[in-house]
Amino acid sequence: MKTINLTVDAEGIGLAAIDVPGRPMNVLTPEFNEDLAALLQRLADDSGIRGLILTSGKPGAFVAGADIKDMVKRFDAGISAAEGAAMSQALSQLLRRLETCGKPVAVAINGLALGGGLEVSLACHYRVLSNGPKVQVGLPEVKIGLFPGGGGSQRLPRLIGVQAALMAMSEGKSFKPAEALAAGIVDEVVDDDKVVEAAKTWIKTKGDPVARWDKKDYKIPGGGSYHPAGAQIFMMGNALIRKQSYGNYPAVLNLMHSVYEGLQVPFDTAIKIESRFFCKTLATPQAKAMIRTFFMSMQAIGKGSGRPAGVPKTDVTQVAVIGAGMMGAGIAYVSALAGIKTILLDRDQAAADKGKAHCEDLLKKSVSRGKMTQDKAQGILDLITATPDYAAITGSDLVVEAVFENTDLKEQVTKQAEAPLYANGKDAPIFGTNTSTIPISLLAGASSHAENYIGIHFFSPVDKMMLVEIIRGEKTSDATVAKAIDYALKIKKTPVVVNDSRFFFANRCFIPFTAEGMIMWSEGVAPALIDNAGRMTGMPRGPLEMMDDVALDLLTKITSETAKAMGDAYQPIPGEKEVAQMVADGRLGRKNGKGFYDYPEAKGAPKTLWSGTLDMFPVTQAEASPAEVEELKKRLLYVQAVTAARCFEEGVITNPREADVGSILGWGFAPWSGGIISLMDSIGIAKFVEELDRMTKRYGDRFAPPQLLRDMAARGETFYGRFDKKAAKAA
Ligand code: NAI
Repeated sequence: MKTINLTVDAEGIGLAAIDVPGRPMNVLTPEFNEDLAALLQRLADDSGIRGLILTSGKPGAFVAGADIKDMVKRFDAGISAAEGAAMSQALSQLLRRLETCGKPVAVAINGLALGGGLEVSLACHYRVLSNGPKVQVGLPEVKIGLFPGGGGSQRLPRLIGVQAALMAMSEGKSFKPAEALAAGIVDEVVDDDKVVEAAKTWIKTKGDPVARWDKKDYKIPGGGSYHPAGAQIFMMGNALIRKQSYGNYPAVLNLMHSVYEGLQVPFDTAIKIESRFFCKTLATPQAKAMIRTFFMSMQAIGKGSGRPAGVPKTDVTQVAVIGAGMMGAGIAYVSALAGIKTILLDRDQAAADKGKAHCEDLLKKSVSRGKMTQDKAQGILDLITATPDYAAITGSDLVVEAVFENTDLKEQVTKQAEAPLYANGKDAPIFGTNTSTIPISLLAGASSHAENYIGIHFFSPVDKMMLVEIIRGEKTSDATVAKAIDYALKIKKTPVVVNDSRFFFANRCFIPFTAEGMIMWSEGVAPALIDNAGRMTGMPRGPLEMMDDVALDLLTKITSETAKAMGDAYQPIPGEKEVAQMVADGRLGRKNGKGFYDYPEAKGAPKTLWSGTLDMFPVTQAEASPAEVEELKKRLLYVQAVTAARCFEEGVITNPREADVGSILGWGFAPWSGGIISLMDSIGIAKFVEELDRMTKRYGDRFAPPQLLRDMAARGETFYGRFDKKAAKAA
């Protein structure tokens, strides 16, 4: 066996250590399946083996899950539905054989056990889990558009009850050891070096080789599909899942089907039902796109796939952040968190201290939530020096400038900061600006080293938002891009590289979403309908509530700055005057409790729509038929997607993977789609162009398809086929 090492002790207890060669963590490969079959044969043939312990041969991690890359490869190669079903059944049938092998099987989970890793464990008769600090178990498949297909969707509800299992699987929740024990997912939690011993003790003392659901008197905890309480859970669960996902995730619906139907039949039939739904899910465009974006692309970007080739890796050890406001303080916090010495600069000591105090508040929160020790928090805080003295910049590898959004000020700060930055020259320090609207090439004009000048655009709140846009100016060098990416990765952010353009990539695509909401409002569509349609698209919030979150005064300022900068070319957005009036009347959005909505002070109390919006634009459409709702949803999604297509045409962004990941991490673009580019590919470019032409006639030029889309439609191309280098090579 290549992936399992079997040893048998003097007492006849086998220890099967999973150790998949060439992988940092165990994944369930087709080879593992073959070896598991061989192990089962040995168990059947060898009467000297009285019981078996499964564990991992890799310290610190049990099994990370199924080999998803292999699964996708086989699907992409065009296997038939029958082959797909056979593929997804292979593991669950083997695990069922393990469960019914007649000998007691205990699992010593010595680390992370996610997805397939937990499914293997659930098929064992007894589960011992390590108490290690990084250990977690769970079935997170929904996060990549799938659901547990190795028997997990059948065993977990039979083990811990339908409600708890559905919640765990539909959210993809991970459990720490104590939580897993309390939930009943594992039987025992012990120190890491005692897991095998505890498993052995169970085999020797109890060693029951029959799963509880195979016993005659077995009852599903809390009741199954036909039990009155169980039926109620499904009714409520259905409604809840609809409310959360608006039917956008086939994986979640198929999970519900699989559990509901599977619990009504004997276990062997149940896993066949699960396999069919799993296979159906795997074949959906949503699953394919989500696997590509959330699994493959995020991993690749996390490893620096966007770095220019041939530039050696760099390590940022000291950063100077100029401007200790909302963004600067956040940037200082994430930098210090990554162990980087951080100089936090502002106009005076009090302003700099205020920024550092914000970092301290965030650290205090982590300590109070038990995520960090007081000592560690103090160590991180000590890495931050708050000062108004520009001389402190000397010796930094990187400056991140986050002062007010004003060109003159930014240019002045650049000159002032570059003197100490280049004073005693560490190797090629770089200068990043966090501007959200000003062209990088324009600001680079003030730099003495334009090749070292770059945009490093964070999103708010910095400690939570994962995306960082790395923006190349005309003169920015590859080495500077590489260093900015190395910094972003060091502070655990996801960098995507874009070229200079008004609003860069993320905001350029996101702004049309809110603008479309304003246009609908001006047309007389009820605000509640607009925001509901927005949420139904899979965006985290509707456009009007999103505007409240961003702050109406900020949006008004951006609008007037844009109008000023664009001159005659600027096309006003219907409703912008009304929003400006709201700002003038003190309605700034969520931050002061008044915007499109009124926000009650009581914590947790729901917001209510402000009636004044109806005076500004009287409602002419209060209700909508399903077809009309679909049209509203289409407008809100397509207006963003067509903008992304324009970004490709103009070369603002060049990599579909980065665009997809950026759209989800940057502004929460409908995750079910796999991202803004995957959405267009899965609609089909020809069909998308046809719809855009129709919508242009009806709503205006903002929907007009760029020539690139027409060319792609004529050639039957997809974005991934045309722009993804790897895809092109593989084709
Ligand atoms: P802010 O107003 O909270 O902070 C700006 C800080 O710069 C203030 O503390 C101010 O005292 C300081 N400052 C002004 N002149 C200075 C000087 N000469 N030397 C040192 N410090 C000086 O602004 P915020 O929101 O943090 O924005 C900063 C930058 O980040 C802007 O360019 C903005 O466009 C950009 N940005 C903002 C986002 C947001 O959501 N607020 C998101 C992404 C980028």
